[in-house]
Amino acid sequence: MENIIEIKDVCKSFGGKDNRTQVLNNVSLSVGKSEFISLMGASGSGKSTLLYLLGGLDIPDSGEIVLDGRDISKMRDRALSKLRRKGMGFVFQFFNLVQNLTVEDNILLPLVMDGRSPKKNREKLDSILETVGLSDKRKSYPNQLSGGQQQRCAVARAVIYEPKILLADEPTGNLDSKSGTEIMELFSRINKEKGITILMVTHSAECAAYSDKVITLSDGKILS
Ligand SMILES: Nc1ncnc2c1ncn2[C@@H]1O[C@H](COP(=O)(O)OP(=O)(O)O)[C@@H](O)[C@H]1O
Ligand SMILES: [Mg+2]
Repeated sequence: MENIIEIKDVCKSFGGKDNRTQVLNNVSLSVGKSEFISLMGASGSGKSTLLYLLGGLDIPDSGEIVLDGRDISKMRDRALSKLRRKGMGFVFQFFNLVQNLTVEDNILLPLVMDGRSPKKNREKLDSILETVGLSDKRKSYPNQLSGGQQQRCAVARAVIYEPKILLADEPTGNLDSKSGTEIMELFSRINKEKGITILMVTHSAECAAYSDKVITLSDGKILS
């Protein structure tokens, strides 16, 4: 299987000279195209740090991160931000929706920020609204939605460009278990129907059960 994510000997530490904490200590990990992976581990074990590095939002002290065959440390800023916008989708624990935009405008935001015409993307929008089950909420604002609906809106926004990779940091961490299950079913569907590779941080064994494989971070290393 071809790998879409290759992490090789990545180290990352934080802090000053005298109080440095080694958060990731020679982490290596390969994710195949269209795999759905769960990343687990105790609080503070470096899961979010690893996702940030993958998203190009921070840089490792050493080691290599190769996404879809490209070493991100060797990419220019413009290429990296393009990859971030179109090649990857992000979903967070606290939805991160824009409160004064409707559901459909939140979903279209990545396209609008790219200078694309929302009108030309009607079909795409209708289809994704259908997929996430929010067709009847398209004109609602985030504060008129339940947590689960807000997260489904955030998922729609993350995949409107049909990215190759979806990175999710505790996407059900702020949801009741029924809404959490809905999000996991949505992730499964997106993964299978669109072939989007998913790397999801979770504390929940029920959520992890939806993925193909569970990887555990502990003491800065991946447990095999
Ligand atoms: N920007 C930062 N500056 C300083 N320390 C950080 C930073 N980001 C994370 N850390 C530290 O790195 C460790 C791992 O954090 P994190 O990756 O958020 O863990 P997890 O997501 O597994 O709970 C924690 O001890 C945290 O305090
Ligand atoms: Mg975290």
